[in-house]
Amino acid sequence: MGIVSLLSILGTTDKVSSDSLTIVTGSPGLRCISCIHFLGKAKMYVDLLVSCILRTISFSGKEAVFNFVSGLSFNILGFIILMMKSVQFKGYGGSDVIEINQTTPTPTLTGENVLVKLKAAGINPIDWKIREGYMQQMIPLQFPSTLGMDFSGVINQIGEKAISSEFKQGDEVYGQAGVTNGGSGAFAELALANVDHIAHKPERLNHLEAAATPLVGVSAWQALVENMKLSKNQKILIHGGAGGIGSIAIQLAKNIGAHVATTVNANDDQYVQELGADQTIDYKSQKFEDLLHDYDVVYDTIGGDTYKRSFKILKKGGMIVSMLEQPKSELMQQYDVKAIFQFTQVNKERLTKLAQWVDQNNIKINVDRTFSLDETRYALEYQKDVHPRGKVVITI
Ligand SMILES: NC(=O)c1ccc[n+]([C@@H]2O[C@H](COP(=O)([O-])OP(=O)(O)OC[C@H]3O[C@@H](n4cnc5c(N)ncnc54)[C@H](OP(=O)(O)O)[C@@H]3O)[C@@H](O)[C@H]2O)c1
Repeated sequence: MGIVSLLSILGTTDKVSSDSLTIVTGSPGLRCISCIHFLGKAKMYVDLLVSCILRTISFSGKEAVFNFVSGLSFNILGFIILMMKSVQFKGYGGSDVIEINQTTPTPTLTGENVLVKLKAAGINPIDWKIREGYMQQMIPLQFPSTLGMDFSGVINQIGEKAISSEFKQGDEVYGQAGVTNGGSGAFAELALANVDHIAHKPERLNHLEAAATPLVGVSAWQALVENMKLSKNQKILIHGGAGGIGSIAIQLAKNIGAHVATTVNANDDQYVQELGADQTIDYKSQKFEDLLHDYDVVYDTIGGDTYKRSFKILKKGGMIVSMLEQPKSELMQQYDVKAIFQFTQVNKERLTKLAQWVDQNNIKINVDRTFSLDETRYALEYQKDVHPRGKVVITI
């Protein structure tokens, strides 16, 4: 741990725990560094001054000056070291509300959380939707707020209540650290994540691929395995097969042994065939409802008119699971099918099953493009406007 070695070199630590970065010491200067961690900026500045003055009390003349200056330098150094870079937004809006904060305080580790040194963060449509305020009624945020949900990284510290969990310092994990699910935001150098929202990283995936997987992978798993209970030889239509969710759903459906049709734009035709799709339909020039009939299930990742037209291809007793639309009872009755709106919940159990499935079946996670943390605003624009084939990932 950099700071621990540094403190030891400076000879100012009485006792340092490298696991927790908690400094147990009689030195007021070092207590000040703990304050950075636990009490926030304002109190920290006051403590910084007080601690430096305290260091001088029992000295006089040159010694007092030396102690004051060394205490001040040391505390400023500690302040710099315990800051991290994060991508924050200062209010709801477009790309212009995003700012890079170089001096974000390292999140305070509490309860059932772990502090993760992030290696990569995945971009999802939900990230720019949150920035634009789509979710503000459901989950009001305090600003500035750190963006980002999906991540892959290495556990740096473990919270007191998480010590007995299956995780330990140094474990490679993936999952979610969004502020909307109890984390501190994944577009940052370090993030807090609740142990219920992480799992060990799939071994076959590198950090970029693993960071691209949590929301889309769990969405596909929850829909096909849990909601549809898709089985061998059933027929499934997957809308948006070249997208983040669609490209995993195709592989999962084929792995189960289903017959897969998918809607894509013509440029993505070959890509989804390589993922295993049996039939591809160009959504711009063809009408899927003229080509398909008697399908067991539809997985809708598009919504709107695509959702409504999908009822026509289902057989009686079939099912449509939508990521965007609430069930329409008149359509359900008219076509005698079941309709479900799925709110994906990324939890440890699903992430663990997903990781096992990915590892056992050599699943392909297509990272379309990577951006640096400083370029996150462009990564969000790229996801929204350019429409990637697969996923966009931030390297950290
Ligand atoms: N309810 C939940 O809990 C939940 C969870 C996760 C995601 N979601 C939502 O689910 C949606 C899909 O997520 P994602 O991560 O897969 O998005 P994505 O990566 O942006 O993929 C969307 C795909 O749909 C394609 N597409 C666009 N219009 C189409 C149409 N009319 N017919 C067929 N394909 C079309 C796009 O291709 P082009 O290049 O042709 O545009 C793109 O390949 C998003 O709206 C997201 O917010 C909801």
